[in-house]
Amino acid sequence: MAAVDAGWTVIGIDNLEAKVAQINSGKSPIEDISDIQLQTALASGAYRASIGFSSIAKASVITICVPTPLDEKREPDLSFLQSAAAAIAPFVSNETLVVSESTSYPGTLRDIIIPTVDSLKPKNSIKVYYASAPERVNPGDPVWNQKNTPRLVGAVDAASQVKALAFYESICDAAVSVSTPEVAEAAKLLENTFRLVNIALINEFTQLCAATGINVHEVIDAATSKPYGFMPFRPGVGVGGHCIPVDPLYLTWWARQNGARAEFVETADSINREMPKYVGQRALELIDSSITKPRVLILGVAYKPGVSDVRETPVSEVRDYLKSQGAEVAWHDPLVPTWEGSKPVNIEWECDVAILAIRQQGIDLKILVSRGTPILDCTNSFKLRTGVTSL
Ligand SMILES: NC(=O)c1ccc[n+]([C@@H]2O[C@H](COP(=O)([O-])OP(=O)(O)OC[C@H]3O[C@@H](n4cnc5c(N)ncnc54)[C@H](O)[C@@H]3O)[C@@H](O)[C@H]2O)c1
Repeated sequence: MAAVDAGWTVIGIDNLEAKVAQINSGKSPIEDISDIQLQTALASGAYRASIGFSSIAKASVITICVPTPLDEKREPDLSFLQSAAAAIAPFVSNETLVVSESTSYPGTLRDIIIPTVDSLKPKNSIKVYYASAPERVNPGDPVWNQKNTPRLVGAVDAASQVKALAFYESICDAAVSVSTPEVAEAAKLLENTFRLVNIALINEFTQLCAATGINVHEVIDAATSKPYGFMPFRPGVGVGGHCIPVDPLYLTWWARQNGARAEFVETADSINREMPKYVGQRALELIDSSITKPRVLILGVAYKPGVSDVRETPVSEVRDYLKSQGAEVAWHDPLVPTWEGSKPVNIEWECDVAILAIRQQGIDLKILVSRGTPILDCTNSFKLRTGVTSL
């Protein structure tokens, strides 16, 4: 949509037929893009979706932005990236710019995408330009979007850099030129690993404070009064979504491939992964110990506030831990219609304790407070309210 707004004609390729049909019918699959915005772009002819890769044959720019998840060993799964590179290759034409926007470890463009495209492109004589420009998106953010977030651009040669900068300068307010694709790829991993380790630090610090009766939020507020050298992070149920818990493991894997270890990052990952169990334990501590099969209501199951996305949500581990302790668990999230095969309950569901895991608009605690149900607030939303305990 940013490219459409900048005057480009855009074709969105996806191998999910249902998604393509949904988009072409004017129903946006992405919360930050409204149906109206999509419908306007479709009606003007500036945008359409397709499952046919041949429709990119006339493209002067091809951006690859497919998922880069972890496999069952929690290692990089580049299968989507590899299949996308192979699928575009027969349709690149002379002087096409191919950009990788997917998050991956340094060397992905040069070692995986380029050899794949070069080996499958129609003719050897075709010159293809290559760059890396990692996507920076914060879903649900009302301030920062594709246009006003500066974009890193690192290409394999000077001519590719000129083309890639021109493209991103046309769709973003600022493109930031870096010397190689590897710098851009590494910077993306640094950005998200920075968040992971700081969240881990505050999650660990929270447990230290709670054990000694200190309110960690008051400590964070106090430290934030320092005008330099400190940035506040808040504790929570863990780390969710398809970026912050995933991307740092691309970094740890890449380190191992190069004979090193990113121990600090590995430790941060394990601290965050222990957080759901800690949250479950704190919630069970709020229940009368005579109750043998406690009923626990989890409020908010998306991976963060304001979105319906439940990918990698740490709330799954909270639920699993509570169930392993014999609890009956139900959930409520105004933005999530189904979650891992289950349906939400009404907020009035009778329970012994409620966990406010993610703050979603439309979650009203009044009924629980008036009933005297203890609430563990992992979001620091209800400070000093009777019956509400902060993480
Ligand atoms: N979504 C974000 O908030 C965000 C932010 C920053 C970076 N990223 C990165 O951007 C990349 C894409 O993330 P996403 O959340 O948009 O992914 P996503 O899971 O929404 O997938 C995007 C689409 O790619 C399609 N797809 C998969 N393989 C394909 C193929 N071979 N050919 C054509 N289509 C294919 C999928 O069907 C899906 O519709 C990832 O590397 C991610 O880490 C995402």
